[in-house]
Amino acid sequence: MLKGRSLIEPGDLSLEELQEIFELSEEIVETPAAFKEVCKGKILGSLFYEPSTRTRLSFEAAMYRLGGQVIGFSEASSSSVSKGESIGDTIKTIGCYADIAVMRHPKEGAPKLASKYANFPVINAGDGGHQHPTQTLTDLLTIYLLKNNFLNLKIGLCGDLKFGRTVHSLVKAMSRYHGVEFYFISPPELLIPEYIKAELEQKSYFETTELTEVLPELDILYMTRVQRERFISEEEYLRLRDSYILDKKKLNKAKKEMIVMHPLPRVSEISEEVDADPRAVYFDQARYGMFVRMALIMKLLGVEIDA
Ligand code: CP
Repeated sequence: MLKGRSLIEPGDLSLEELQEIFELSEEIVETPAAFKEVCKGKILGSLFYEPSTRTRLSFEAAMYRLGGQVIGFSEASSSSVSKGESIGDTIKTIGCYADIAVMRHPKEGAPKLASKYANFPVINAGDGGHQHPTQTLTDLLTIYLLKNNFLNLKIGLCGDLKFGRTVHSLVKAMSRYHGVEFYFISPPELLIPEYIKAELEQKSYFETTELTEVLPELDILYMTRVQRERFISEEEYLRLRDSYILDKKKLNKAKKEMIVMHPLPRVSEISEEVDADPRAVYFDQARYGMFVRMALIMKLLGVEIDA
């Protein structure tokens, strides 16, 4: 039963609960009009202390498409946080006005802390370099709809595996499915953290610096940008930014049925010429993100479609 719970990291949802969310998302994709009033009278608090395009707007669009309404802020400077208000006081105040809240914050653990003060569901929309569970729901729904299931897939994760919170969340989530193999492709400076690898079986992952070496093996290639905002040195960022650039020539080495995913935003790691390739699904992924967030809001609020 998801009603009333918070979502802080992907492991908060059981495999059965994930399956329920994907099935509901698929229903919404197929018959969106049937859901247009299910959240009438409900309000989403949208608390973004860090920039966002997809996560914030897809959550807000999700609530509007369910017939609900949205309040909130898109930068900390336009809230009383700028006057020194704590996370606890902010979330208790939001609870006076909203039924559910979504929070993005640069500090790891901030949404979890907020959930301790809240008597309503709080959703982590990305906390520092830590976790991004609703991007994971987006990624998993994309795989569910385009690959039919999660079993025995070979997934390559390429780019900034050190700071990329979407990668950390996705690896944790995918490792729960049988036979999944991970190919971690990164420069030595941006390796996947040890604490993520520690939770995987030794045989289930392979690390390399060479994208083209493993590309022909993959069922899914998950590209990521180098996370400029997490670097202390701009010089180091500029040195690493273009470590991997997927172009048409490289993509020719991949299987015909491989899919290219990216949580977006993209900087330079996928050439625009790749967008026209049917294997490039990153804008479909952004669209599915809204549908899966509609399903998640419904589940956490415990609202159902009339039979
Ligand atoms: N994928 C993702 O989190 O994008 P935004 O930063 O635009 O929300």
